[in-house]
Amino acid sequence: MSVRHLLGVRRLDTIQIQELIEVSAEFRRRMKAGEALPQFPGKVAGLLFFEGSTRTRVSFERAAFALGIQVTNFTGQGSSMAKGETLRDTILTLRQELLDTIVVRHPSCGSPQLVADFFRRPVINAGDGEHEHPTQALGDALTILLRKGRIQGLTVAIVGDVMHSRVARSNAWLLSKLGAKVRFVGPNTLLPSNCALLPGEPYFKLSEGLEGADVVMCLRLQKERMAQGLLSSIGEYRRLYQVNERTLRPAAKDVIVMHPGPINRGVELDDATADGPRSVILDQVESAVYTRAAVLFWALGGDPDAVLDGATSVFEEAEA
Ligand code: CP
Repeated sequence: MSVRHLLGVRRLDTIQIQELIEVSAEFRRRMKAGEALPQFPGKVAGLLFFEGSTRTRVSFERAAFALGIQVTNFTGQGSSMAKGETLRDTILTLRQELLDTIVVRHPSCGSPQLVADFFRRPVINAGDGEHEHPTQALGDALTILLRKGRIQGLTVAIVGDVMHSRVARSNAWLLSKLGAKVRFVGPNTLLPSNCALLPGEPYFKLSEGLEGADVVMCLRLQKERMAQGLLSSIGEYRRLYQVNERTLRPAAKDVIVMHPGPINRGVELDDATADGPRSVILDQVESAVYTRAAVLFWALGGDPDAVLDGATSVFEEAEA
């Protein structure tokens, strides 16, 4: 069996995506029913986070716990990387220390591929620079399915700082592969210049981008990745692009509002909407626990067919 890495969703086909979401949904059912998930005794996962994280790191830990996988946490700080050791030598060291899988978040695009090249055991991308965040997109798809009943044919407006967002890229690839129509909405300084290479249509006016949208996915303004001068001011951005009860009026009546977190409250999203009935932001956090368990299970050689034997399909259930 070839090594099962999850480095991005762009490389996955629709069947693989659906299978991971089906396993996530079945794990959700089992965890809510208090049933055990398949166990991996003796397996150890390294969680390598070279950028801050709350949701992703903790949910991978929680998912590993549910699967009987032990975790060891590693950040650059306090390690020999602080003395100048390279990422390559760090990964070769961790391989020799008998880790079974590595989950990696890193500010540089493509670094999970480098980790995979040297580790040669399963590597899971937990977010690399502006490139991809595949487990976020898988969890978001599960959240949409659970709330809207389908993904095929939905209009999904991804609003804000698309240029710096790995969440936007992974969601655009994944949701379009599942049949959604994706829009990118924001000022042209925050939409990638190569937008045409992504599976979505650009919109520069919020009201036009939200017209008829079934799902509005807000993005965090990533000031830490932003060059100077991309925005005139936060106040102007708020006035033109904030998602709130007023600006949501052109959207579908049953629109849901998503945000990967952390939220700049009062900037890309107002409090009333973030905490209101259309918001599924906390559902996204929970879904990600199940999808990260599904991805760890798959990466460590678990058999999806064995899990799904007799299970109800979340896609068919949604259509029924
Ligand atoms: N959505 C997300 O990746 O959140 P964290 O940075 O808290 O992990």
